[in-house]
Amino acid sequence: MTASEVAASEARLSFAPVDPATNPHLRGPFESVVTESDLTGLRVVGEVPAELNGSYVRNGPNPRFAPIGSYTYPVDGDGMVHRIRLVDGAASYSNRFVRTPAIEREEQRGHAIWPGVMSGAVPDPADVEPDLAYVTRDLPDINIVRHAGRILALAESDNPFRLSSNLETLGRELFDGALPAGITAHPKIDPLTGEMFTFCYLLEPPYLTWSSLGPDGSVVRPPTPVAGVDAPCMIHDMALTSTNLVLFLAPLLFDVHAAMSGGSLLSWQPDRGTRVGLVPRDGGPVRWCTDDAFWLWHTANAFDGDADGTGDDRVVVDFVRHDHPGMGLSTAPNTTSLVRTVLDPRSGGMHHSVVDDADIEFPRIDDRSIAGRHDRIAVSTDSGRRTLPIGAADALYWYRPSDGRRKGWISDDLLLGEPAFAARPGDPDPDHGWWMTFATDADATTSQFLVFAASAPDAGPVARVEIPVRVPLGLHGNWLPEEH
Ligand SMILES: [Fe+2]
Repeated sequence: MTASEVAASEARLSFAPVDPATNPHLRGPFESVVTESDLTGLRVVGEVPAELNGSYVRNGPNPRFAPIGSYTYPVDGDGMVHRIRLVDGAASYSNRFVRTPAIEREEQRGHAIWPGVMSGAVPDPADVEPDLAYVTRDLPDINIVRHAGRILALAESDNPFRLSSNLETLGRELFDGALPAGITAHPKIDPLTGEMFTFCYLLEPPYLTWSSLGPDGSVVRPPTPVAGVDAPCMIHDMALTSTNLVLFLAPLLFDVHAAMSGGSLLSWQPDRGTRVGLVPRDGGPVRWCTDDAFWLWHTANAFDGDADGTGDDRVVVDFVRHDHPGMGLSTAPNTTSLVRTVLDPRSGGMHHSVVDDADIEFPRIDDRSIAGRHDRIAVSTDSGRRTLPIGAADALYWYRPSDGRRKGWISDDLLLGEPAFAARPGDPDPDHGWWMTFATDADATTSQFLVFAASAPDAGPVARVEIPVRVPLGLHGNWLPEEH
């Protein structure tokens, strides 16, 4: 019997429905949408820039049926992709589930079969047909990227699902069988080379591998173990410089045995500290920097050299630092800050400079600057004007980390998602592009798609596309320019 089979057999529990009244991520602006829509001719307040031709696509947890057992944001849910398509100033909207085997089986039954991730349990043959017994649920609900012509709905260290340009699910993407264990939800594409770098963490040794794909989508470096990793850690994001992958090993460990005993699948073990691995893109030996425990969900800028540009083999990474990951795994206070961190592999240490201690998340940059020196970050944030659940924001901030300058835009009536950048075609200046995001009305019945000029984002949206249905708050999205 495998560990999953043992967990399933010992956990023959009757999983009760999760009451939305007890979970803020199942109601209001987070409540699932189950209707798939195609809406054209949307009303625009302001003007959509004529140069913006393409689609903004965004993924997020959206359980198909009422969850059973547990529901933990942001690691549970089914994937739903929402798309705004802009063509010559006109806007249309579509949304589709990322159709996984679990969704299709649950639709046949008319209710949820798989309990929440934190239960550590999977259905056994008493619950589901043999082909899906003991199988964990696919959760391609975190991010959506396009590389080498493939549109991928990405899961947390698992197989992505490939989508058509019309958001139809084409199936599980195994990259010609070369990446069978899957990839992170946050791979990084080098804009200069077109390569995509990724990692995958595993519950069994070697616990962590990295790999790369060429600009044509072929796997150039097959999964390669990261030496020196002795336990299964959850790693949500990575950073990329022109010479290194940067992998943060915070002490958030998987504990299958605890889950089998009714405990949590994840445990926060701060005594272990946080280690950051610099993994050379050319396959050289990994170097480590260590610090007291901290957690991060997301990185922003990363580049070789120290922040003054005088460094040798130091690496600079901007990211949102948390004391711990939340999710009910620690009772300690949790502070959040945007930091610029210099990693020094010669001393094995790191130094954090706080850019802002606001309660921010979802840091994004102009992705044309991935792996290169860059000094702009956009984030979403809770302005503190009212009480918002984790993952909800009512403001966007734009930073220059080198001097801490910040611009902001706060909404009185909208809850805002992660900002994403769209470049002005043919123009390398990051101040000449646009920032965009979905926004959900505070009364959670309708939504908007907002476009901000990067030159003056704090002036407010230059275009508001009105969406007559609710787009729930979600996770990550990207602007996909029209391909010709
Ligand atoms: Fe993420």
